[in-house]
Amino acid sequence: MTSDFYRIRRLPPYVFAEVNALKAAARARGDDVIDFGMGNPDLPTPRHVVDKLTEAVRDPKTHRYSMSRGIPGLRKALVGSYARRFGVDLDPERETIVTLGSKEGLANLAQAITAPGDVILCPNPSYPIHAFGFTIAGASVRHVPLLPLDRFVGELEKACRHSVPRPSALILNFPSNPTAQVVGLDFYAEMVDFARREGLYILSDIAYSEIYFDGNPPPSILQIPGAKDVAVEFSSMSKTYSMPGWRIGFAAGNPGLIGALSRVKSYLDYGAFTPIQVAATAALNGPQDCVDEHRAIYQARRDVLVSRFAQAGWDVPSPPATMFAWVPVPEAYRHLGSVGFSKLLLQEAQVAVAPGLGFGEYGDDHVRIALVENEHRIRQAARNLKRLFESGKGRIDNA
Ligand SMILES: Cc1ncc(COP(=O)(O)O)c(C=O)c1O
Repeated sequence: MTSDFYRIRRLPPYVFAEVNALKAAARARGDDVIDFGMGNPDLPTPRHVVDKLTEAVRDPKTHRYSMSRGIPGLRKALVGSYARRFGVDLDPERETIVTLGSKEGLANLAQAITAPGDVILCPNPSYPIHAFGFTIAGASVRHVPLLPLDRFVGELEKACRHSVPRPSALILNFPSNPTAQVVGLDFYAEMVDFARREGLYILSDIAYSEIYFDGNPPPSILQIPGAKDVAVEFSSMSKTYSMPGWRIGFAAGNPGLIGALSRVKSYLDYGAFTPIQVAATAALNGPQDCVDEHRAIYQARRDVLVSRFAQAGWDVPSPPATMFAWVPVPEAYRHLGSVGFSKLLLQEAQVAVAPGLGFGEYGDDHVRIALVENEHRIRQAARNLKRLFESGKGRIDNA
């Protein structure tokens, strides 16, 4: 009997585990850790959505198995929101599906469309499930450096030329977690052309499409004419409506891919609990000022982070979108790598960040700071960091 399981063997130790263990130990010691580590929204789900959940849960009819593809009302609400926000028409039956969070949808679509050894193109750094969903499914993941963005298309073309077999899918995620990069419609038009030429599918993840700043809403790839021939797009309630624990996301676009995901999911699950889907419908169909309010809170936090950390001696590039800043490790600490630097911040300044290495090898000279602490706590973190930087601990010039 073996315990050396094929799929588990393909999963490396979790990079974040080391820093998470230190964080847990610091908390157990009673340290007040200012936690910018995980992208776990701290803002509450809007009141009217919670009220809808409690109303729906009182109806015993909602206690039965739900629908694996999502209740029709929620799929129609998604269609309405795509029409309003992006001017995109979708067929709720053939072109949409509700998922148990977008992470589940990404992973199960990878299972649905992958044969062992298929080559997948994945930007690096990236949100871990983008690569590992396919790794678990048995694919060979070809990592394509995401930075700088003006070289990305050239890198994709090179990866296609040199991959055997030819890649079958490409993952895109803009606004990007972790880099916060955004793209315009020109970029998506180029990607749709590229996918047609190379005969590959695009899986686009727009989990952060509504967390944008300075009045610049990011586009959807489905706005490109003909995009549905090659692309499917994942979106999520988690960040837009501060509903991360509710586990509702969506896929929309290419009917073949939506059909494949529906088929796999029909074997695996009965859909999210109906009251949660009813409440998610209320969120999409209801007033959107809660989304504007949350966006304004993230933008204010971003501005405090950038200005206060600069005063502490650490330049933070201002993110145009997402709830993250992607920040170069200061020169004097580069020798520590992103994991070593994250440990130093935690131990000496009680500030937790996510080491860039956790998002892939090309991320190791950065850390990711999530805007999930309030402005007061961000100022406190800046004071702690200033003390650390002035102490000289960990700097190469003092090593
Ligand atoms: C880029 C990206 N996609 C997907 C997800 C997962 O979202 P969900 O809660 O819908 O599974 C996240 C969560 O952090 C994310 O950052």
